[in-house]
Amino acid sequence: ANDGYKLWLQYNQLENPSEWQKDCFEQYKINGSSSTLDIIDDEIQKASMGFFQKVANQEQNNPKLIISKISDLDLKKFKLDATKITDLGSEGFFIQELVTDSQDKTTIVAANTDIGLLYGTFHLLQKIQKNEWIPIEGIFQSPKTQHRLLNHWDNLDRTVERGYSGFSIWNWHRLPRHIDQQYIDYARANASIGINGTVLTNVNANSLVLTPEYLEKVKALADTFRPYGIKVYLTARFSSPIEIGGIKTADPLDKEVQNWWNKKAKEVYEYIPDFGGFVVKADSEGQPGPHNYGRTQADGANMLADAVAPFGGIVMWRAFVYSEKTPDDRHKQAFNEFKPLDGTFRENVIVQVKNGAIDFQPREPFHPLFGAMPKTPLMMEFQITQEYLGHDTHLAFLAPMYEEVLKEDTYVNGEGSEVAKTVDGSLHSHKLTAMAGVANIGTDRNWTGHHFHQANWFAYGKLAWDPYETSENIAEDWLKLTFTNNPDFVDPVKEIMLDSREMVVNYMTPLGLHHIMAESHHYGPGPWVTGGSRADWTATYYHQADENGIGFDRTSTGSNALGQYAEEIQTKWGDVNSIPEEHLLWFHHVSWDHQLQNGDNLWNNLAKYYQKGVEEARKNVKIWESLKGKIDDDRHQHVLSFMTIQAEEAEWWRDACLLYFGQFSKMPIPEGVEKPK
Ligand code: GCU
Repeated sequence: ANDGYKLWLQYNQLENPSEWQKDCFEQYKINGSSSTLDIIDDEIQKASMGFFQKVANQEQNNPKLIISKISDLDLKKFKLDATKITDLGSEGFFIQELVTDSQDKTTIVAANTDIGLLYGTFHLLQKIQKNEWIPIEGIFQSPKTQHRLLNHWDNLDRTVERGYSGFSIWNWHRLPRHIDQQYIDYARANASIGINGTVLTNVNANSLVLTPEYLEKVKALADTFRPYGIKVYLTARFSSPIEIGGIKTADPLDKEVQNWWNKKAKEVYEYIPDFGGFVVKADSEGQPGPHNYGRTQADGANMLADAVAPFGGIVMWRAFVYSEKTPDDRHKQAFNEFKPLDGTFRENVIVQVKNGAIDFQPREPFHPLFGAMPKTPLMMEFQITQEYLGHDTHLAFLAPMYEEVLKEDTYVNGEGSEVAKTVDGSLHSHKLTAMAGVANIGTDRNWTGHHFHQANWFAYGKLAWDPYETSENIAEDWLKLTFTNNPDFVDPVKEIMLDSREMVVNYMTPLGLHHIMAESHHYGPGPWVTGGSRADWTATYYHQADENGIGFDRTSTGSNALGQYAEEIQTKWGDVNSIPEEHLLWFHHVSWDHQLQNGDNLWNNLAKYYQKGVEEARKNVKIWESLKGKIDDDRHQHVLSFMTIQAEEAEWWRDACLLYFGQFSKMPIPEGVEKPK
């Protein structure tokens, strides 16, 4: 049966398979032996069963498909140009159809390492499922970022912070003795899209995970993931020396504290020799950190970096640092804290920066730290789980949101200084590069709650591998691998996907509005939220609506967060007439009758965006209904039910926001917009 559990690895039966497609499975050969090569062999068998309902055949003498490390290949026989393949690195691969002297055609998957071969094999199998050929010139690929990580905000009690797909898939209680099949399936799915690291624990960390009892369990997971090329990382709670070390302080400049971390790191590496390193959230939202001792973020990061350096580990130090005690605009705080520290971090520290300066809103301008710390490697943190985009039930394909940020020009080295170039290290020549995605995975049968949210996990992996990949390619690939190649299904659904994030922006936070969601759970609308003690967690602080107008003035007449961006951006965004309207209320406070580019006033535009979002959500239901029978009923029905919820809740957002903001604008609901109920 078609099953959401199988993700984009469905291996649906091929219609009219070509000779080439059949040959690959009837006469294949894998050179060498290792646990990773066993996985490759198993994958070929799985694919063969799916594509042809047949066992695949190894063929030693006259293979039609060879999977081999370059060092084990007869380069001469296949007239292979060694110079073309030297750059593949430790994770790259190439796939090519080569002709021998005897005119035999052989498909070769080659790489420098077994992991490269695993990636190459998945790539080939995906090509076959999509009914695509290998171009004559071959496919040469290697990842553009070094560390491609999922961040699990999973707690040791198996709850998942901001997780909407069940509980944590890490069953700490049964570990280390029981290795659940889901761990293996998880590793396989990640490997199939190039993800090579996983941070098992929540950024709001628990120091218990660093005790021997838990390290045993972590080791069991690391051992399971290793043949799939996936390294394990943990979050380190800054106060661990106090909590589990019995020391009175966690001051990063204290010798005893430093020694404790050094010993702890050594211990971790005894369990897990290829342990990836630590992620740290410090001095933010109640987490302990160097501020507690009057130290800097660099003091904290460097202490941990020194501890893991002898073993090749890295520290991903999060820039999500802000405090309600700092009176300044929250947008500015991370920049103000980190920018002066540029050049003071150890070589094995990378600063992990969220895509925007507030917090994973449906749309944010890119974080001003990108490009602003030339001497420090920075990594991108995207959120895959939909904390602010309708949790599990709202379809929002996030690739366009990631792509939008990656393509933004920071202008720090003049035009063409895109955010993607900070991520791949090319902007300031950094070798240490990484991307993190906050996972949306849980114990739900289909992993991610909404079937379509599998696409966001997939998209994240593809963009971490290549930050220049396009949303359109990703959507199309995912649909074909997950459902069917039938264009009657793929074409309309691809449109739905590509427009879906903008639709969510339309019915939640159009025109640069942000942080107007309900308190604490962040699911529905809550522009009225004034919260408790913290202004930085309220909605009214961010939208600033009153009778005169709406929006947060972040220009020089206001908080001047805009001053943290390059001149070119300041000029463009500083002017209400030239700022892209999608960021208008993020940076400007404007009157209700302020005229937008279409000649209509702000209030009418706002109302029409909300209405547009509602209509798009309704239209999706109709289109999806019409596709019944094109895919299996189970998944069709599941998605339909969620889409219906989404359409209802788009109305909820529209009505709540228009009723609330209408109190201030005192303007009528314009024609074409339904009256709020
Ligand atoms: C958001 C989210 C928190 C999370 C935090 C973080 O604020 O609501 O649950 O801990 O981001 O990224 O650290």
